[in-house]
Amino acid sequence: MKAARYERLGAARDVLDVTDVERPEPGPGQVRVRVALSGINPTDVKSRSGATPRAVDGFQVPHHDGSGTIDAVGPGVDPGRVGQRVWTWFAAVDNRWGTAAEWCVLPADRAVPLPDDASDELGACLGVPALTAHRCLFADGRLNGRTVLVAGGAGAVGHYAIELAKHAGARVISTVSGPEKAELALRAGADHVVNYRDADAVDQVRAFAPRVDRVVEVALGPNLALDLAVSGPRTVISVYAAGADVPLPVRALMTPNVTLRFVLLYGVPPRDLADAVDEVGAALAAGALTPLPVHRYPLAETAAAHEAVESGAMGKVLVDTTV
Ligand SMILES: NC(=O)c1ccc[n+]([C@@H]2O[C@H](COP(=O)([O-])OP(=O)(O)OC[C@H]3O[C@@H](n4cnc5c(N)ncnc54)[C@H](OP(=O)(O)O)[C@@H]3O)[C@@H](O)[C@H]2O)c1
Repeated sequence: MKAARYERLGAARDVLDVTDVERPEPGPGQVRVRVALSGINPTDVKSRSGATPRAVDGFQVPHHDGSGTIDAVGPGVDPGRVGQRVWTWFAAVDNRWGTAAEWCVLPADRAVPLPDDASDELGACLGVPALTAHRCLFADGRLNGRTVLVAGGAGAVGHYAIELAKHAGARVISTVSGPEKAELALRAGADHVVNYRDADAVDQVRAFAPRVDRVVEVALGPNLALDLAVSGPRTVISVYAAGADVPLPVRALMTPNVTLRFVLLYGVPPRDLADAVDEVGAALAAGALTPLPVHRYPLAETAAAHEAVESGAMGKVLVDTTV
């Protein structure tokens, strides 16, 4: 089969090649997926570049996320799953067979049924972003009737944070950097959108929501003053992206009794991850989740696809493994 792979860490063009490798067989508890689309996340790019290095077992086929169809199952897996359309998550965790290939093998619970009316694009967008958004939103309780501030609502995690929060019955305000991204956040269901670059952004957010219950935060340093302006004792600021380290203003955090939560998907307890997968699956089945705008690359151009992620492409970069 054809697979994109790397044996050492470095720049995409230096280390990623697309070659023929032997098609893997599913082991005990695993399924094999004929991949349709492979979704790229910043973490895949950082693992390959060495920015956040992960051990390479001889070689690594990158990418956790994807969509496709199960075509074989290993011992202990229900053979009835053959033929099932699925979306994948964490495919490349402790596993050299990520989704940037014609086939991947992975633990059966990391291939989740994709409803008939959900597109391959949507399936390949979900994994890391939707599960991260879920953790940020729900680790501290339900959101029905609550108010959520999503920073960067046109980003991949931000997009699913808006959709999952709305599905859970919350009011959602989102910040973005311009009109095109505002349009995306509104289409995802945000009730109100503010350009965080406006001089009066804090006032605009406060006019909609003097207090919020949850902040899903992509940039704590630049946004902390805004977050604190709408924080009280019930507010949890969930931080999922590491920018430059910033000194914490302890007194200003203590005064509203705010809670800071940090989320790294790789470290979320397995039971909580399993719950997140179930609840994202339920939201998907209810039609509450939509794909981001996608940029498709053929498998042979996986290095260019990584570069597109590195240059901040708006929406989701996908690799089509069928061409
Ligand atoms: N902790 C985890 O487990 C986890 C999981 C997934 C992702 N991440 C990390 O989270 C980051 C985002 O991932 P992603 O896949 O969502 O990327 P993405 O699709 O590129 O989205 C990032 C969004 O953040 C926005 N943004 C940047 N600075 C902002 C600011 N000061 N205020 C508000 N919005 C801002 C960007 O838009 P503008 O620049 O136009 O504002 C963009 O829409 C990456 O660093 C990724 O590695 C971490």
